[in-house]
Amino acid sequence: MVETFENVHSPGQARVFAVVNQKGGVGKSTTAVNLSACLGELGHKTLLLDLDPQGNATSGYGLNRSQRSECVYDALLSDVPLEALIEPVEIEHVFVVPATIQLAGAEIELVSALSRENRLKNVLAPVLGDFEFVIIDCPPSLGLLTINALTAAGGLIIPIQCEYYALEGLSKLLDSVRLVRSHLNANLEVFGVAMTMYDSRTRLSQQVVEEVRDFFEDRVFETLIPRTVRLSESPSFGQPITLYDPLGKGAAAYRSLAKEVVSRV
Ligand SMILES: Nc1ncnc2c1ncn2[C@@H]1O[C@H](COP(=O)(O)OP(=O)(O)O)[C@@H](O)[C@H]1O
Ligand SMILES: [Mg+2]
Repeated sequence: MVETFENVHSPGQARVFAVVNQKGGVGKSTTAVNLSACLGELGHKTLLLDLDPQGNATSGYGLNRSQRSECVYDALLSDVPLEALIEPVEIEHVFVVPATIQLAGAEIELVSALSRENRLKNVLAPVLGDFEFVIIDCPPSLGLLTINALTAAGGLIIPIQCEYYALEGLSKLLDSVRLVRSHLNANLEVFGVAMTMYDSRTRLSQQVVEEVRDFFEDRVFETLIPRTVRLSESPSFGQPITLYDPLGKGAAAYRSLAKEVVSRV
C-alpha cells in the first residue's frame, strides 16, 4: 500500500504545516508530536520541527534538550544546514529537528537579521524533497519565530482547547495570517482546526465545538481529541502516544486525525 503510494507520487515537495495558536497549553506540542507519529505510522516520511524554545516537542520524542549543542537556532542564525540537525526517533519514518533553550535568543536576534521573516522558509527549502510532511511546533506567541513558521508553511493546523474563552485571541492570530498572506506567503491557509481536550461528558465541550464549527465551519476536523491522562503522561516518558498507550483513546484519536490530514491534502 505504502509502496504503491510512493511509486505513484515520486517524492515531490513536503506539505508544510504549522501548528499554531498563540495561547499556551492548548495542545500544540501534543498535537505536533502525536500527529507526526501517526503520519509516520501510516508510512509517510515526516519531519517534526520544534520551533518553541521550551522544546516540548523535542522532549516529547525523548530527545534530551540539555545535552545537545546545536538546535534549530543554528540553522536560523548560524548558517548550519538544517539537514545536519535532523535526527531519527523511535518511530520509523519520523525525524525531528530539536529545539533547545538557546532558541529563546532567536526571537530577539531575528529582529535585526536580514530577511528575518524568511529564514525558516529558506533553510527548509533544501530538505522539502526528502519528506512528505513537515510539522512545525510553534511557540505560544505571535513573535518572529511564529511569523517564520507562517511564512514557511502551506497550511495552519490550529488546536483549540474545549474550554471557556476558546475563541479568544484567535482574531489576532487570523490578523497575523492575513498580514503574512498579503506580504510574505500568498499561499497560506487555515488547513484545519483541531479540537483538543474534549470531554464528551460535559456540555461545555460540546458547546465549544459548536461555537468553533460556527466560526471555522468545515475547516474543523471531525476528529475530536479527547482529554485523557495518558496523553498528558506520555511526554514524561519521551514517547508519543502510539508507543506509550497504543491501544488507548488518545492514540486512536491522533490516528484518526492523521488520516483526516492525509485525506485533505
Ligand atoms: N488531549 C489531552 N488530554 C490531556 N492532557 C492533554 C491533552 N493535550 C494536551 N494535554 C496536556 O496539556 C498541557 C498543554 O499541552 P501542550 O500540548 O503542551 O500545549 P501547548 O503546546 O499549546 O502549550 C500539557 O501538559 C499536555 O500534556
Ligand atoms: Mg508547546
